[in-house]
Amino acid sequence: MDAYSCSALESKIHRLKPERVFQVVPEIVFSKVAGKPEWRHVNNGSYYEWRFAISAALQPESVLEVGVFYGYSLACFALGSKRIKYVEGWDSCVYDPESNIVCADVLKSAGIKCEIELKRVDALHAEPIRRDFDLVHVDGPHTFDGTLRILEEFENVPFLLVDDTSDCADNRDAMRRFCSESGRRKIDIPTTTGATLICPGES
Ligand SMILES: C[S@@+](CC[C@H](N)C(=O)[O-])C[C@H]1O[C@@H](n2cnc3c(N)ncnc32)[C@H](O)[C@@H]1O
Repeated sequence: MDAYSCSALESKIHRLKPERVFQVVPEIVFSKVAGKPEWRHVNNGSYYEWRFAISAALQPESVLEVGVFYGYSLACFALGSKRIKYVEGWDSCVYDPESNIVCADVLKSAGIKCEIELKRVDALHAEPIRRDFDLVHVDGPHTFDGTLRILEEFENVPFLLVDDTSDCADNRDAMRRFCSESGRRKIDIPTTTGATLICPGES
């Protein structure tokens, strides 16, 4: 990927961002967190909206999310791509022991029809993965070693989205280390907590 196509992709993501996530994902999908701290990210115009836009720009067939929680980002990725065939979510369920169960309901209420696999796994002790993904969202452990390890595990995936790269120094440092060692390009995504889309290196 050259500098031109990286900046063209960035412009496309900005063009495809909906004003509000409720324009593209049914409001009922987020009902579990109404009135809770997580609600601050819902329909604020600069959080889940970017997940949808990234997927709309990349049109992935397969997406893995590490740290799926209730599946809100996964729903945005699945609904953003017209080509989606398979989504997989991993979570060790440390935030909520029932989160994978809630996630299954959330993806159903979003009307997602593609194949879905949700796994209760600790990403830091997961078996090596044998299938390819078009996009991996890294939003699990939020430690330097953990995030770097996941990025290295999925180094062959063309697009890796790392969450919280403004708010979480460990995620930011791990993302920077990975990009400098691998020569991968990156696009800053101006979400409320910062995110970075790692793209293929210069070809
Ligand atoms: C910030 S939440 C994810 C939010 C979700 N991606 C979204 O956008 O709606 C982080 C999740 O990562 C999970 N997690 C933390 N450490 C993990 C690990 N080592 N392996 C797998 N999941 C982990 C937590 O249980 C939690 O559900």
